[in-house]
Amino acid sequence: MSDWNKSAWRKLPRVQMPEYLDEAALKGVESQLSKYPPLVFAGEARKLKTELAAVSRGEGFLLQGGDCAESFAEFSADNIRDTFKVLLQMAMVLTFGAKVPVVKVGRMAGQFAKPRSAPMETISGTELPSYRGDIINGFDFTPEARIPDPARMLQAYTQAAASLNLLRAFSTGGFADVHRVHAWTLGFTESDEAEKYRDLANRISDALDFITAAGITSDTNAEISTVDFYTSHEALLLEYEEALARVDSTSGKWLAGSGHMIWIGDRTRQPDGAHVEFARGVQNPIGLKCGPTMTSGHLKALMAKLNPANEAGRLTLIARFGAGSVGEHLPRLIQAVQEEGANVVWSCDPMHGNTIKSSSGYKTRPFDSVLREVREFFAVHNAEGTIPGGVHFEMTGQDVTECTGGVRAVTDEDLSDRYHTACDPRLNASQALELAFLVAEELSSRREANRQAANA
Ligand code: PEP
Ligand code: CO
Repeated sequence: MSDWNKSAWRKLPRVQMPEYLDEAALKGVESQLSKYPPLVFAGEARKLKTELAAVSRGEGFLLQGGDCAESFAEFSADNIRDTFKVLLQMAMVLTFGAKVPVVKVGRMAGQFAKPRSAPMETISGTELPSYRGDIINGFDFTPEARIPDPARMLQAYTQAAASLNLLRAFSTGGFADVHRVHAWTLGFTESDEAEKYRDLANRISDALDFITAAGITSDTNAEISTVDFYTSHEALLLEYEEALARVDSTSGKWLAGSGHMIWIGDRTRQPDGAHVEFARGVQNPIGLKCGPTMTSGHLKALMAKLNPANEAGRLTLIARFGAGSVGEHLPRLIQAVQEEGANVVWSCDPMHGNTIKSSSGYKTRPFDSVLREVREFFAVHNAEGTIPGGVHFEMTGQDVTECTGGVRAVTDEDLSDRYHTACDPRLNASQALELAFLVAEELSSRREANRQAANA
């Protein structure tokens, strides 16, 4: 892109970014990071784009999920493994429901910076700057912790690199074999609470037995013993993103080297703002969060900026309106996309429009609202004749109590038991899997309806 450079965002209005007090320290970190290797290779981002292009045509389904905010304190191999494990289980259930490849993208290995609804936080009469994610400042409620520290970018980079290294090893080293993944899921459906999903799990067992009998085994087929797994995060901290931007020697185009896919949050999507400016110049697949205030005019302006060549797979629109509001907002955005003839992936984030304060004082999300938003998203696409291409959600492999409800019902009173998130409440492993079963049902009834329509 000849009219773009990686620093041009600096001249534009920016929101949700920290003011670093020590300019020299910031410059030092940026210069150091700009010499480090990128975390991802351009060919991988291109491959993901090709797979998302298939999703935009209904020949694939996008599964994107992970922490709201990764944290330095919760960084461990077990945490990475458990989140990855649940994503693989979800992917298997979805593949079975959709009968198309599931594109697996983690909110992992880089999801450190957070936009906040209020710049200040008050606890018992003391007011301090809000926590903005471990890459920016500290979670502890002290004046020192809340000062933005550029050195945190180096720690985030190191953690992202180590996380990605482990994810790559898990993806190809035998951990992700379909038989193992299915065995974990069977464990879940054997519990009394998840009985309603057992039938689907048994049908997957049958399918696996069939392919084994037909001679397709893990020893000889990489397709069933390995997975492609991609990383993503919100590209919020532009000093970090710029420092990791690299020119791809194959294509001569710029790449955000911080992760395979980056997205623009609902609070930073101003068409003439810094975040859109940075994202428009890199060739990675881009996600764009679409909340209730997004008008068709905004969306058209953003599509023109972010995907002027209308390349399929480039842009994923992530709808996050809240249960009960999808029917009010999604149709006008679908219409805007159709008027422009734009190629997009439509994904559903059923988390960010459904955050409430529980009676016990915790920020939570009722699991029923999460499921309801997913159903509404499918219903609107079914009515409009457009393609529900994916889901985007916040989850962890840990057995936390952050969202209420689910088959192993978490109540308001339970929230204090294991509430560990550094930011928004996440689905736990069992809720995440339950969500996957629901989406699989939606996808298979769509397939059935399409088949009947084709035969009529
Ligand atoms: C997020 O995905 O964590 C987030 C802040 O989302 P949104 O921009 O949609 O509010
Ligand atoms: Co969040």
